[in-house]
Amino acid sequence: MAERYILVTGGAGFIGSHTVVELLEEGESVVIIDNLSNAAADDKGLPPALKRVQDLVNEKHRKRLHFRKGNYGDRKILDSIFTEFPIYAVVHFGAFKAVGESKQVPMKYYKNNVKEALSLLKAMNAHGVKNLIFSSSCTVYAEVPPEKLPLTEDSPLGECNCAYASSKYFIENILRDVTVSDGQWKVMSLRYFNPVGAHHSGMIGEDPKGIPTNLMPYIAQVAVGRREELNVFGSDYPTPDGTPVRDYVHVVDIAKGHVAALKALPAMQQSFRAYNLGSGVGTSVLEMVQAFERASGVVIKTVMKDRRPGD
Ligand code: UD1
Repeated sequence: MAERYILVTGGAGFIGSHTVVELLEEGESVVIIDNLSNAAADDKGLPPALKRVQDLVNEKHRKRLHFRKGNYGDRKILDSIFTEFPIYAVVHFGAFKAVGESKQVPMKYYKNNVKEALSLLKAMNAHGVKNLIFSSSCTVYAEVPPEKLPLTEDSPLGECNCAYASSKYFIENILRDVTVSDGQWKVMSLRYFNPVGAHHSGMIGEDPKGIPTNLMPYIAQVAVGRREELNVFGSDYPTPDGTPVRDYVHVVDIAKGHVAALKALPAMQQSFRAYNLGSGVGTSVLEMVQAFERASGVVIKTVMKDRRPGD
């Protein structure tokens, strides 16, 4: 393969770091841009996740990984990256993703997720880079009655209930419009369900700053004693054990999905396609806890609470 680079925004994050490993192992060269807003940094200001990614892959791959710290919409940094590296495609993860917070401070989400994405698209356009894999979410789907499940790519979209979901939905619309205006664009939007888990090496995983809002990192922090107990939000849902059911999908499967999407770009018939990335299997909160207990041998203390708003 002639040398080409993949620009990964948010590559120090949970899904981003796992995808970078898969890309490197596929022989791709990678430039990460990340402002480390949700990732730890060492005393040199570098994310430990990156160091671990370097340790995980062999020396040959390691040399093909570059990191630039900054906002993914920062035109100056983007111009310098696009000038320095022959970027073939952008894999765009960078975004805020806390649903609850997005309800409290929607403008922060629209600025970071939508405005910065526009800036990224403008820079890509200016440098003639028109291949994009976009990190979307199942939250772009409108609520449907249970008999219409599972959600397929043709299920109705919109009616988003928070700024986070709207931001993903708006960006998908922007991307669709951009591809209609210029057929040279090839865009794949990957709508994830609930990504969980960690690389089998145990060297990278999900380690959010502050109190986790998602289930799996919360369970993990209870398991290692960082948190006392897990609040289970709701036990009166119409599900077999009363706790909410989700489609959890392993993060490495999601990462491999991005590699597959990248490979499929050149043969795309349309300029824009969306794909669901899920397992197709529903699992309840208590089943998740039990599975974690079985795998780790640690008992997770749980406390039943009221339903979480927005769930
Ligand atoms: C959430 C977001 C979704 C986002 C996804 C990944 C909401 C409503 N949705 O999905 O938009 O794409 O994260 O970032 O927030 N739970 C507990 N105790 C906890 C944490 C979670 O019982 O401490 C339960 C929740 O009520 C839910 C399930 O675990 O039923 C999964 O929660 P979570 O990991 O936050 O994912 P989602 O809510 O599905």
